[in-house]
Amino acid sequence: MAKDKLRVAIAGCGMISEFHIRAIEQIPELEVAGVWDIAADLAKALAEKWNVKAYGSYDEMIADPQVDIVDICLPAGIHAQYGCKAAEAGKHLIVEKPIDVTKEAGEQLIAVANRAGVRLAVILQTRFAPAIGKVKKALDEGALGRLLYGEAAIKWHRNESYYTSKPWKGTWEFDGGGALLVQGIHTIDLLLWFMGSKVKTIKSFARTSLHPIEVEDLAAAVLEFESGALGYIVGSTAMKPGYPERIELYGEKGSVALEAGRIVRWQVEGMNEEDYLDPTPRGSGSSDPGAIPVDNHTAQLQAIARSILAGEQPPVSGPEAMVSLNCILDIYRLGGMEPKK
Ligand SMILES: NC(=O)c1ccc[n+]([C@@H]2O[C@H](COP(=O)([O-])OP(=O)(O)OC[C@H]3O[C@@H](n4cnc5c(N)ncnc54)[C@H](O)[C@@H]3O)[C@@H](O)[C@H]2O)c1
Repeated sequence: MAKDKLRVAIAGCGMISEFHIRAIEQIPELEVAGVWDIAADLAKALAEKWNVKAYGSYDEMIADPQVDIVDICLPAGIHAQYGCKAAEAGKHLIVEKPIDVTKEAGEQLIAVANRAGVRLAVILQTRFAPAIGKVKKALDEGALGRLLYGEAAIKWHRNESYYTSKPWKGTWEFDGGGALLVQGIHTIDLLLWFMGSKVKTIKSFARTSLHPIEVEDLAAAVLEFESGALGYIVGSTAMKPGYPERIELYGEKGSVALEAGRIVRWQVEGMNEEDYLDPTPRGSGSSDPGAIPVDNHTAQLQAIARSILAGEQPPVSGPEAMVSLNCILDIYRLGGMEPKK
């Protein structure tokens, strides 16, 4: 009989893992099989709180025949290492963003999952916010005409205790980057997805301007797309007190702007702005990583579950997740910061 429910084992019991559990609790097609963390006390506490199993080791978790999906909520620089092992054990994969921190590691994970015949989805949950879907649909239908220019601004703030809270925060090896790769990636992913064209040229600057960390806390880049459109990205964790992230898109027929996942401007020929403006504020991680809404995770995890059950590629695919990673790595390299991993 075909399955109607998939059991998810979560690797990594830090900040984001509980968002996954809270989301999975709301999804009829998913169930938490158990959790694991290299810090056994964290796994035990999370397991007790949610009344699920705490695995004693990663190998035990990926060998469990009850587990259909391994959900990687570990530091980014070890996503592929752990993900490949789970794929080789025959488990489907959900991997938190970014897919990993280098092009080689990301591509290796995609290749290993393909070879093992398992599905791989990368969490880029802001694509699933209702306002984002509305904008994407309008762009695909040509509402703005040809896109001329798009801008992503992530002027966030992280305090020193954020970077000192865990030894891997702010390191090339485990975070793989800073303001762009850890915080800005969602907004950058959306900009590239909306622009719908490959990046052809990048001019950029990246630097550590305020925090005592290895990775960048401020970067800016001008992009030229193959379509001829231009783009601009600025990302920071040094902008006190932290401002909601914005995307602005300009096309032949007008302009649309989003702030923290809601539409704040829709000035397009022949369209009524009031039909599109979203009056309800949504959470932003602008100064607190835990302030993001859980409903985008719920929407993506449900879409992933339904696709896997239907035998289809779940969103967001590995190759799609490589687009923002590659762009950010190019911004670092061309901006004078070479990731050291
Ligand atoms: N989608 C989002 O909006 C969002 C938000 C925050 C974090 N994330 C992503 O989720 C992932 C985890 O982030 P987090 O904020 O939960 O981090 P975290 O530091 O809070 O948790 C990471 C967990 O991994 C464990 N760990 C550390 N090193 C390990 C190792 N070598 N082997 C095994 N386990 C190890 C730690 O004990 C910790 O519990 C990252 O990829 C991050 O980018 C995504």
